Amino acid sequence: MALLAGGCTSDGAPPAAPPSSGPPPDFRPGAEGIGDPYFPKYGNGGYDVGGYDLKLRYDPKSGQLRGSATVTATATQDLSRFNLDLAHLVAGKVTVDGRAARATADGNELVITPAAGITRGTAFTAVIEYSGRPEALRNEELGVGGWLRTDDGAFALGEPESASTWFPVNDHPADKATFALAMTVPAGVEAISNGVPGERTTDAGWTTWTWTEKAPMASYLATVAIGQYRVSTSTHAGKPMVIAIPESLPADGPAARSMARTGEVADFLATRFGPYPFDAYGGIVLDDDRVGYALETQSRPVYGNTFFRSGTQTTVVAHELAHQWFGDSVALERWKDIWLNEGFASYAEWLWQEHEGATTAEQNFARRYASFDWSEPPGDPGPEGIFSQSVYQRGAMTVHALRKTIGDEAFFRLLKSWPAEQRNGNVTTTEFIAAAEKESGKDLDSLFQAWLFGTTQPPRP
Ligand code: TRP
Ligand code: ZN
Repeated sequence: MALLAGGCTSDGAPPAAPPSSGPPPDFRPGAEGIGDPYFPKYGNGGYDVGGYDLKLRYDPKSGQLRGSATVTATATQDLSRFNLDLAHLVAGKVTVDGRAARATADGNELVITPAAGITRGTAFTAVIEYSGRPEALRNEELGVGGWLRTDDGAFALGEPESASTWFPVNDHPADKATFALAMTVPAGVEAISNGVPGERTTDAGWTTWTWTEKAPMASYLATVAIGQYRVSTSTHAGKPMVIAIPESLPADGPAARSMARTGEVADFLATRFGPYPFDAYGGIVLDDDRVGYALETQSRPVYGNTFFRSGTQTTVVAHELAHQWFGDSVALERWKDIWLNEGFASYAEWLWQEHEGATTAEQNFARRYASFDWSEPPGDPGPEGIFSQSVYQRGAMTVHALRKTIGDEAFFRLLKSWPAEQRNGNVTTTEFIAAAEKESGKDLDSLFQAWLFGTTQPPRP
């Protein structure tokens, strides 16, 4: 399907009369990609999702997932049909605003044709019943993303995409939405996800776990972990804190002891970045050799146990919690600007290490500045380079160079004003540079040009 190709394909009843002023609606298919230059097929065009409400059942024995997704959205063009991303799963009955809609699979896209066209600006609700055996997406450069089955359950996570392996979604961070999950699993199995825990009910040997994330969330930040976990729920700073440790790991081992410092690390970061942006805290540890990473899943980061093999470790906790401000609450509009996530999360590691009385930020900077491959610019790393050393380390060096250039006062003001002003939003590098210039009163063009886009060592700030 070509971008914006084709004309009016609405069938069935005529659409509602257009508003008395303006031209009549011109129904066209929504684009099959949201328009990210790095990943042209990610996400979809023509609508904006407000919320996902998932009611799912997972059977660890068969690996079968089934249920329904209620997607509330608003048309951003006159829509004859639209796509949702859905990989390896099969849609059954689909309705739009209560009326049966046609749904066809086209690779990892679900193409939904409502009974009538949807005019621009109109809110609509799509309900998709679906089922299947979820599978991960494999990207040659960026690794595995999405649903992975385990001996006792499954988990879903991955960046830059993963959500489409377990629910129909506009799978791109530019379309953030609220998220509610009711996950039914056999009694005795835990199901942990994002946000605030709700009711847990058991019926006929199946337990339903409910989770609500009411702050808009980028789709790759949705996660679920199903299996044998010790789930501890407490309150931190007046908000629920949910920590899940696999039963295969000791209850008081390094993973559990690292997670136990979540509140303390979040509170430290709040002194630098302003108030914690979400309604819940927590963390999920995965004891699975396929997970050699951590991910900043919203309000509840996921950590591979590999981080804790040699003892308690809070640097990674500082990194993932920093993302709650930089990456989650303030999210990317386009993947090209990923240094805004990783540069700041890496810089937060330096701030935390300095706070802990270990390496100072200046030492962390100097060590890297002395020896680095400057050939890859972090401001345009290419789709295969979005998780490169340049993005993380030179990204953090860029933050430090900014600090040295504008001084601590303006710098730490900016670290709070930016997340406050852009809270729950989507941003670009250009907007960040403008904010830094406004906060400091300085022209920072040449600084950012050298640090983000140059291919040689920038001058020492
Ligand atoms: N964004 C993650 C971090 O910095 C790292 C990451 C990159 C990742 N790609 C991933 C995690 C894929 C999980 C899956 O913490
Ligand atoms: Zn990160």
